[in-house]
Amino acid sequence: SACSEPRRDPMAPVPPPQPATNQSTSQMDPLPQSVFTLPQTAQLEALYTIIRSKETRRGDFLFYSDRIIRLLVEEGLNHLPVVKKVVETPTGATYEGVGFEGRICGVSILRAGEAMEAGLREVCRSVRIGKILIQRDEETALPKLFYSKFPQDIASRYVLLLDPMLATGGSAMKAVEVLMENGVPEERIIFINLISAPEGLRNFCGKYPQVKVITGWIDEGLNEKAYIIPGLGDFGERRYCE
Ligand code: URA
Repeated sequence: SACSEPRRDPMAPVPPPQPATNQSTSQMDPLPQSVFTLPQTAQLEALYTIIRSKETRRGDFLFYSDRIIRLLVEEGLNHLPVVKKVVETPTGATYEGVGFEGRICGVSILRAGEAMEAGLREVCRSVRIGKILIQRDEETALPKLFYSKFPQDIASRYVLLLDPMLATGGSAMKAVEVLMENGVPEERIIFINLISAPEGLRNFCGKYPQVKVITGWIDEGLNEKAYIIPGLGDFGERRYCE
């Protein structure tokens, strides 16, 4: 079952099926057409409740954020185009199915995005993964590219762009700009994140309407320090530091 150690598992007892109580998506009505959320089920809300709690220690934060990341990656793959593919089964019958049309790669926005790489690898064996480091330029206060390394044939791949928190959208927009400079068409980028702020989504989707955004949850907004509210605090701190 999903919970092998019910006594020690913060998920136990398993909540009965019920509609998610989250209201936040209504604040973004209507959602940009390029935005897709995970089904807002009670189970998903329970996972988010664990990772949002300040009482949750690193081990559980890792475990439950990984579960959400896995769901997000699977949803991202649902948006890749497929072509007809016919196979023969061991019974001798043919099966008219589909296969993915193109190849993919992941690109993580450092450092928090790196936490999503393992989830992508679990689902896509031996997937190529690039990295991009964007930080605030102290002089201009604008997001600046500090480092990038991409598969050399990235221009011919679909790119799953990974960053867990979409706050103002500044780094994500810079990352898309850099990907496009490297020859990746906008419509071949799928941006995957755990939690997004409405203002970040509006900024991002306004600038790059053809990038599909897969987000697990849309929160209320940002505080004066650009943290997502209610959010979960600093994702990198929660994930890498106790
Ligand atoms: N990055 C984080 O880690 N948390 C936020 O709330 C916003 C950006």
